[in-house]
Amino acid sequence: MPIEEAPQGETERVRTFYERNAESYDKGMAFAERILFRGGRAWACSQAVGDVLEIAVGTGRNLPYYPVDVTLTGIDLSQAMLEQAHKRAEELGRAVTLLEADAQSLPFPDNHFDTVVSTLTLCTIPDERRAVQEVWRVLRPGGRFVAMEHVRSPHLLVRGIERLLDPLSVRFEADHLLREPVEAAQAAGFTIERIERSRLGFVERLAARKE
Ligand SMILES: C[S@@+](CC[C@H](N)C(=O)[O-])C[C@H]1O[C@@H](n2cnc3c(N)ncnc32)[C@H](O)[C@@H]1O
Repeated sequence: MPIEEAPQGETERVRTFYERNAESYDKGMAFAERILFRGGRAWACSQAVGDVLEIAVGTGRNLPYYPVDVTLTGIDLSQAMLEQAHKRAEELGRAVTLLEADAQSLPFPDNHFDTVVSTLTLCTIPDERRAVQEVWRVLRPGGRFVAMEHVRSPHLLVRGIERLLDPLSVRFEADHLLREPVEAAQAAGFTIERIERSRLGFVERLAARKE
């Protein structure tokens, strides 16, 4: 079944998708994580310091990887995903503030966080450039944006496959295969500190600073 078109547009369509799929998300993700994203969550979360925001926290799969001394806030569009994250936080004994919010319009003042983390998120948020602008706004000067995402591959064959699958992936999984987080980060004003690509350029690790 394709995701239904919601009258409120693409953001509501994405919310509906995750409301319906929250309970099966962890199971579906476990396999992809072993093959494609191994080590990525630990890499991203280990760089978190101080007041930390995770955008589109989902079911809280990153929660085990954060340093114990950070103050953690997670937002997500989907209440059903946040319920799973609440359960995980309780099981782990991890203190975290979880809020329903839109990453494209964050409910926080300017210059509020030391680190913002995003994993497998910019592929889903309808206007990912706007979300990255919001990340820039809520970070304090000197703060860091750390992301682990699947992206448009520079490898011609892989990119060709991504182009073929993208319309289906967007329609059925709310998942964009041709996104370029680095370009979004540069456009928002970030200084890029680190980019690592793996899996034929399909997976990217990005660290960027707000000067
Ligand atoms: C592929 S899941 C990734 C979840 C989590 N970041 C992870 O690494 O497992 C995408 C998540 O993005 C959330 N999402 C999509 N658009 C959003 C938006 N505009 N604002 C906040 N969350 C959003 C979805 O509800 C879903 O939980």
